[in-house]
Amino acid sequence: SLSEALVSDGSSITIHSAEKISPDPFAPEQKGQEKPKIYKNVPLKQKSKKPQQEVGNDSTAGLVDPLTPVPTKSHERSKSQISKDLQLVRESLPIWGFQDEIRSTVRNSDTMVLIGETGSGKSTQIGQFLLDQPWMLRKVAGGGRKYGGCIAITQPRRVAAISLAQRVSNEMGTSLGKEVGYCVRFDNVSDQNTRIRYITDGMLLNEILHDGELSRYSAVVVDEAHERSVSTDLGLGLLKGIVETRRKKGVPLKLIVMSATLDVEKMAGFIGGDPIPDAKSEELPVAPICRIPGKMHPVEVYYTPTTLDNFQTAAVKTIFQIHYQYPCPGDILVFDTGSEEIEDLASTVEELALQMEADKPKMNVVRLYASLDPAEQQKVFVKGDPKVRKVIVATNIAETSITVPGVRHVIDCGKVKMKRFRHQLGIESLLVTDISQASAQQRKGRAGREAPGTCYRLYPEACFKKFEKETEPEILHCDLAGALLTLKARGVDDIFNFPFLDKPSRQSFEKALLTLHMLDALDDAGNITEIGKKMSKFPLPPVQSRVIVAAGEEEKLNKDTEEDVLVDVIDVLSCLSVEGNIILQSGRWNKVADDPKKQDPLLPSKKKKRKHNEEDSDEDMTAEERVHTKRMEIVHSSGDHLTYLNILRRYLSKRTNEQKQFCREYQVSYPLMRKVENIRKQLRGYCRLDKVGELPRDSDMKYESETMVARYPRVSQEQTERILRCFLKGVGVGNVARKVAGGKYRTLTASGNAAGGVDVVVHPSSCLMWERSSGSESKKAKKEGSSGGLEKRDEGFGEAVMYQDVVWTSKAFMKCVSKIKLEWVADMYAGP
Ligand code: CDP
Repeated sequence: SLSEALVSDGSSITIHSAEKISPDPFAPEQKGQEKPKIYKNVPLKQKSKKPQQEVGNDSTAGLVDPLTPVPTKSHERSKSQISKDLQLVRESLPIWGFQDEIRSTVRNSDTMVLIGETGSGKSTQIGQFLLDQPWMLRKVAGGGRKYGGCIAITQPRRVAAISLAQRVSNEMGTSLGKEVGYCVRFDNVSDQNTRIRYITDGMLLNEILHDGELSRYSAVVVDEAHERSVSTDLGLGLLKGIVETRRKKGVPLKLIVMSATLDVEKMAGFIGGDPIPDAKSEELPVAPICRIPGKMHPVEVYYTPTTLDNFQTAAVKTIFQIHYQYPCPGDILVFDTGSEEIEDLASTVEELALQMEADKPKMNVVRLYASLDPAEQQKVFVKGDPKVRKVIVATNIAETSITVPGVRHVIDCGKVKMKRFRHQLGIESLLVTDISQASAQQRKGRAGREAPGTCYRLYPEACFKKFEKETEPEILHCDLAGALLTLKARGVDDIFNFPFLDKPSRQSFEKALLTLHMLDALDDAGNITEIGKKMSKFPLPPVQSRVIVAAGEEEKLNKDTEEDVLVDVIDVLSCLSVEGNIILQSGRWNKVADDPKKQDPLLPSKKKKRKHNEEDSDEDMTAEERVHTKRMEIVHSSGDHLTYLNILRRYLSKRTNEQKQFCREYQVSYPLMRKVENIRKQLRGYCRLDKVGELPRDSDMKYESETMVARYPRVSQEQTERILRCFLKGVGVGNVARKVAGGKYRTLTASGNAAGGVDVVVHPSSCLMWERSSGSESKKAKKEGSSGGLEKRDEGFGEAVMYQDVVWTSKAFMKCVSKIKLEWVADMYAGP
């Protein structure tokens, strides 16, 4: 493991400065100089207490953060008191002095570009500055239709939308969901009277589908425009058109584009300013630009002399080197690639921090990534004891999206996880790639917001120079199928001439059109079909919305069966739609206990273990073996899709107070299951709205699951086939791999011939791998018939697999995999 590797090698990594020579311990070793002190020398003494979070104010800011918990009387503080205290913080923001300029620019122009450093206050203040403007008032157009009244502020990430809405409602002294609210996929906390609405750009696209003029809004603010997510880019193109339509109707919509770093002129030219009266050409002038000068302190940059094999290990070492070298306060922000890597790194640091000498300052490790629980994310904003060092391990979400206060040291691994579409294979996957120079500079900047800081780049300077200058917009390297379906459904027929800020290649357009055609979303002439229209209403990627539509059709054909395909398909899709795997992976098993002090019932107590060390009794099963035994009860031999269904059915059939226990026993994530439940409800809602099949009432949900578990403890073979065939309609032949010699899998090409495919392997997280890694329990489980066997009864089953996703690391790994018959693939293309 990572921690073992660290303890055993214990050496220090050397980082040398490229931008400044300093006596820093990370500088190259001088003759006779002692090696920098590192935690290797720390006596491995177990500390009983975890660092306690004490309350205090950040001396550097000089302001009380009203959200910091204050002992005892804090609960008595009223909303208006909190907002009064926050007023001081607001007035200290760089944007505060520019509010008049911003107001007058927006008053005089329908469009504006607003540029300002991360943390200058753009996202939190813009709505509040504009709220009382006369143009905000509802206007009635010729037809008597009401326009305006609300400001939408778009965010590429749901986390940011939620946390901003929370913050701003605190600042305004209102309850979340009233005056200020948010709307993210599967979660809408706002009502008809909401005036500032933080919304993900994906949800704004969805809104355009239902109301092509965005009539409830007076202004749309596109935040984080430099992130250039596909939805941002599509949104900008569509908004350009809406601004024009509303201007012609005399009920203008204000469009403000905000960013920390951006090719400002390009953006200002793209959105365009107000037309000049009596101008000869129809071309618009550029939009006005407003710049908030940033307050930046100098940041020293250090590079490693050589490329590192393992930046995770290097990051841990650097954290402790900083901790031992620099006094508190001064928090550390580490940029890592993804949630799993972050969890890994954070736990290692936590473990090692317990072994520090008593006189060393304590450490408080905080995680920050998109799929994290919002309550958990809020922890990064809480100012703790200045004597405790906060170590924040984050994805690039902390680059510009979320401002973390108190950071003086940044550790940058130089990598990012990005969606990449491989045209040749026709698959989209998450890849770890190098960041751009622009990203590296943003990351560095996080260290110099409050005082001079340091930035440790875990790569050599030569690498930095080889990085791309700017991050490539997502639309240039992603699968365009979802984007094109979005546009088609919003009446954009001439896709090639849609105003893209950066136009994707003809090849990727063609590939996407082909995909949509294969999904039956477009007809031969490229027009959207009824299926396509239904698909576009679901906030899901086309591959998944197709499954729902397929299930709706299937259900109509098999009305009399007791097992409802649509219900089951929605259940599986809900499990797939949460960010993260609901099934906890080994290594993190002991973390599910909600109270860490409580002994996890699955973990044998240490004492007991020692006593009967040698005996091979049931009591002495390792935690892993116990979990394995449990898991063999819920595993479905066809693979992950049906295993998810098994888990969800059983979970739902439990009483609320038993659900947590269920999750603990089976090592399933309880917070994620709660989300699954919510998504399931919403997907059912969408289905009812668009009349895709008939669904039981939500109030019958528990009754429904209880009956299903009682009647069908294991999903029947016929039902398994029906469900998997629906999923196959979605993923298509592109995500099917056939078993070849040596038990390996190779993807099928479109012609259904394995010769041209690529080798793929089942990801270790798949339940299809559980049996292999098992000990004696799986044999026991097999004997009981709870796993395996299906193939034997049903010929051809398992000769191929389909999968939802591929991740490329050392190999191409298939994620969420189920066994299928090749015959099903043939049926799909045989036509009616
Ligand atoms: O949009 P921009 O990056 O310019 O700044 P912002 O997000 O409006 O943040 C302004 C200040 O509010 C920062 O100092 C943040 O730390 C703080 N903030 C917060 O405490 N909690 C949030 N949920 C969001 C911002």
